[in-house]
Amino acid sequence: MLSENAARQSTDVSFLADGGELGVMMHALDWSGSPLGPPQQWSQALKTTVGMLLAARAQIVLFWGPDFVALYNDAYAPGIGANHPRALGRPAIENWGELWDDLEPLLSGVRQTRKTFAAKDRPFYVERHGYGETSYWDVSYSAVPDDDGSVGGVLCIVSETTERVLGETRLRASEARYKELNTTLEQRVAERTAERHLLATIVETTDGQIQALDLDYRWLAINTSCADAYERIYGKRPKVGDSLHEFLADRPTHLAAATAVWDRALAGEAFTNIDEFGDPEFDRRVYEMKFEALRAPDGTRIGAFLTGTDLTDRLEEQARLAQAEEELRQAQKMEAMGQLTGGVAHDFNNLLTPIVGLLDLFQRKGIGGEREHRLIAGASQAAERAKTLVQRLLAFARRQPLQAVPVNISRLVANMGALISSTTGPQIEVTVDTPEGLPEAMADPNQVEMAILNLSVNARDAMPDGGRLCISAKARTVVSEHNAELAPGAYVCISVTDTGVGMDETTLAHAVEPFFSTKGIGQGTGLGLSMVHGLASQLGGALTIRSAVGAGTTVELWLPVSHAAASAVDAAAEPKLQRLPAGTALVVDDEPLVRMSTAEMLSELGYSVVEAGSAEEALQRVREGLRPNLLVTDHLMPGMSGTDLGLALREQYPELQILVVSGYANNEGITPDLSRLTKPFRSDELAASLASLAKAGP
Ligand SMILES: Nc1ncnc2c1ncn2[C@@H]1O[C@H](COP(=O)(O)OP(=O)(O)OP(=O)(O)O)[C@@H](O)[C@H]1O
Ligand SMILES: [Mg+2]
Repeated sequence: MLSENAARQSTDVSFLADGGELGVMMHALDWSGSPLGPPQQWSQALKTTVGMLLAARAQIVLFWGPDFVALYNDAYAPGIGANHPRALGRPAIENWGELWDDLEPLLSGVRQTRKTFAAKDRPFYVERHGYGETSYWDVSYSAVPDDDGSVGGVLCIVSETTERVLGETRLRASEARYKELNTTLEQRVAERTAERHLLATIVETTDGQIQALDLDYRWLAINTSCADAYERIYGKRPKVGDSLHEFLADRPTHLAAATAVWDRALAGEAFTNIDEFGDPEFDRRVYEMKFEALRAPDGTRIGAFLTGTDLTDRLEEQARLAQAEEELRQAQKMEAMGQLTGGVAHDFNNLLTPIVGLLDLFQRKGIGGEREHRLIAGASQAAERAKTLVQRLLAFARRQPLQAVPVNISRLVANMGALISSTTGPQIEVTVDTPEGLPEAMADPNQVEMAILNLSVNARDAMPDGGRLCISAKARTVVSEHNAELAPGAYVCISVTDTGVGMDETTLAHAVEPFFSTKGIGQGTGLGLSMVHGLASQLGGALTIRSAVGAGTTVELWLPVSHAAASAVDAAAEPKLQRLPAGTALVVDDEPLVRMSTAEMLSELGYSVVEAGSAEEALQRVREGLRPNLLVTDHLMPGMSGTDLGLALREQYPELQILVVSGYANNEGITPDLSRLTKPFRSDELAASLASLAKAGP
């Protein structure tokens, strides 16, 4: 009986048999604290359901009763992690606390409505492993009727899909990332391509020369500018794949020069070099070249590359600048010398005037005996030489009085032919080459003749054993602003070329300086070229010299073209000494000695002379009633100038003849309206001036 009883009792819990581990656990569980009470007392419906779920392999949990007491199977247990086994037989709220707010409405809903709730990949927040996580489940919650037909519990057949869902999410994320990467990559490739393209364009369009050679001297790359450069200096363009050796095979010396630098570069040396390359038949250019080793991405040396710049124009520009600076320095030196020389010459001139005048007077009056006559003649000759010297100095200093008129240079040079030939002697063949129709130059014809004669004498001296002397004239135009000496404009250029000894650099550099002569003491004054230079500058032209030792010399005298109407150059007709209409002459000079000698000459010429020491004094005399026929006045005086005096008196007395005497050409101040005479002068020169004055009328 007892065993029968026991058998019935065990039959009562037989639904737990074959229930896996959880069946065993339920069997062993102390159910005293559970709202369900011991399994033996469970309703039949509950027993049946539990038996069914324990046997199932699907993950199943049953929440029974109003407290949702949890009963689950082996398959379900791992899904709740650490909550197993304490969750077994306990109200769900105790172990599903973290998701109770989510779960409870679902379970209550099924209990109340009996409607099954099902979902796929339903997320549930759980803390089963001691940390919060979102788990995913396919769920099916359905109502389980109790014995009395009411809802006894909710049967939850679930299947955790967390791993799949997360896997899919990860996959989607990585797919998205991959997609994003792909687009960025495309974009990056596009950008990089654009950058490469830009770089290539820059390399192709830069005027810097870029080229690379491999270790066999074959071009790996060459930009347009570089190929252009090769074409310019060798007449042909290398292209990628060509060999340097073959390219320059027909020019061994050029090949040697090129390989000399490439050898170093291909040996791995990085260096910068400035050198001249090119076949003179085409062009020679100076390049600055920067060589560097060329390496493959893995670092191995595969050749060398060169970036080059054509320096030729820059160097030429620098040389031009240096030359212009040198010319300017030279011009400044000449200017300073001119100032000094001019000052000294002017003073000497003033000193010479009374000496020349007095000696002239002595000679004309026949003062003294024969011995005195000889001495006076000697002194007079010396004074004449001094006068010439002073004139030359004044010419150099650009202070000689010039009468610039339009001059037919062709005719002037042609007329000099015989004179030049007789000066240079039979050993020298003289050619005169002057074209017809040359424009007239604005110049002082007498001084230009002197200049040509001077240059011819220089040429003669340079050809002691004979040679050829050619004098020619050409119309030339200066356009460049960079000419140190000549302003842009039209010129007549007279050139005097000899086949003589020529000049070395030092001589050439100093030739124009006053008193520079290589001809030895007593042979040359060293003033010839100085004069010509001064003349040219004073007329607005220039003097240029080209010469080399043994190669002869060409001296060019540039004179500006006259824009005025032609005037008779051959007004060279000497005014004949005429009987002068005597009258009263007013002589004005602040230098008593000069004044005295002028006065003496004038009274010799038949004038009654009144002297005044200044312009003011002269005006005073006129105010006091003096009515001179002739005014001879110095120009530069303290106070009022001679020119101003002349103009003031002409205003009142238009009939008055006026002659301004000046030591040098002070172009500012002396008006061309007044006749001029240059100091120092002899009596006959004074007479000639007065004669032409009388002829011209006031
Ligand atoms: N045609 C030339 N060939 C070679 N050297 C020349 C020539 N012209 C001038 N020279 C050189 O320039 C120097 C200066 O010439 P410049 O005419 O000024 O003086 P000079 O001839 O020595 O003396 P001067 O002309 O006063 O009698 C000369 O001494 C000579 O060395
Ligand atoms: Mg000379």
